[in-house]
Amino acid sequence: MLAKRPPMGWNSWNTFGHDINEKLIMETADAMVEKGYLEAGYEYLVIDDCWSEMERDENGRLVPDHEKFPHGMKAVADYVHSKGLKFGMYSCAGVRTCAGYPSSYDHEYVDAQTFAEWGVDFLKYDFCNFPESGNCKSRYLRMSMALKASGREILFSACNWGVQEPWKWMDSIGVHMYRSTGDINDSYQSFKDIAVSQIPNLCMSGSGCFNDPDMLVVGMYGKGNVGFGGCTDEEYRTHFALWCLFGVPLMMGGDIRNLNDVSRDLLLNKELISIDQDEECRAPYLAGQSGNDHYFFVRHLSNNEFVLAYFNFSDKAGMTYHYSGAFEDIGIPYGSGYGLELTDVFTGEKLGVKRDYFVPQVEAHGCQMFKGKLVRV
Ligand code: GLA
Repeated sequence: MLAKRPPMGWNSWNTFGHDINEKLIMETADAMVEKGYLEAGYEYLVIDDCWSEMERDENGRLVPDHEKFPHGMKAVADYVHSKGLKFGMYSCAGVRTCAGYPSSYDHEYVDAQTFAEWGVDFLKYDFCNFPESGNCKSRYLRMSMALKASGREILFSACNWGVQEPWKWMDSIGVHMYRSTGDINDSYQSFKDIAVSQIPNLCMSGSGCFNDPDMLVVGMYGKGNVGFGGCTDEEYRTHFALWCLFGVPLMMGGDIRNLNDVSRDLLLNKELISIDQDEECRAPYLAGQSGNDHYFFVRHLSNNEFVLAYFNFSDKAGMTYHYSGAFEDIGIPYGSGYGLELTDVFTGEKLGVKRDYFVPQVEAHGCQMFKGKLVRV
């Protein structure tokens, strides 16, 4: 089964945009293995937009850009596979991709066949330049069927930016993950707005078909294709914690050949990844909220474990957030005789058993996240 858990990998768009070539892809494949990303679960290496020639060949087939990919895509796929990774590519449901390259509208079956022949394992499918007369759902359905007809198992990553509430229908047409929002950029405001917008839809995300709130910007620090000033380390920590709490795809967007240690350690944090990848694939629920700034989430994991996550989205620096909610609100009243044995997922610090209530302090733009085991007190 594809996408049993949220897919993990790397995508070229956030940092490199059109500036891609086979050397970059091969070096990135090397880095995914050598720096421990593959071992941590990041297995898909995905080339985004801008990989092809501007026109199809005489047989109506897509052609890789001869200068960027002089040895063709099959050779790139073979190299990626030789590293134990899976290979992803990009096309679009419209008549041209977002960057203006040939796209798959009315070429769905021949393109799926081409991708399969190259050894593609993952297709990101965008939504630019879609004809007014076109029907969004039927075009995603058509590519879904074309991929199935291709004879190769290809994960279908639909990217229609939340148009027509994809959380309600993408699952039923065979999609494995669907972009639920517009594009992320490398700023606190961007990932925060995206995350908050998807809270009500997370309950429709799960094993086999995940809500995709876009690729990660961790470690970009304002460099690359979706710049916008960058984030602080604390903010990247909040970004990654949100995506892992939500149990959504983790597609790295930084230049993983050169990430600093703080970013790399964050992306490789075993506790956070194990939360993201929990086998039950349940969504978190919002257990408490005060104003538009303070959010308290709980997520049920397998093995009687739970995540307690506290976010402070306030912009007022120095304002710490004391959440004063009671365990009563999460199904564990004092009289039950049960409490939660808490561990800080970032530091590994054991906080002992808490019952009745728990009041962590959270800095502005920061978060606190704990794993709890339900125990008799
Ligand atoms: C759209 C998508 C992005 C990226 C670009 C490529 O904007 O949402 O993720 O794929 O197109 O042009």
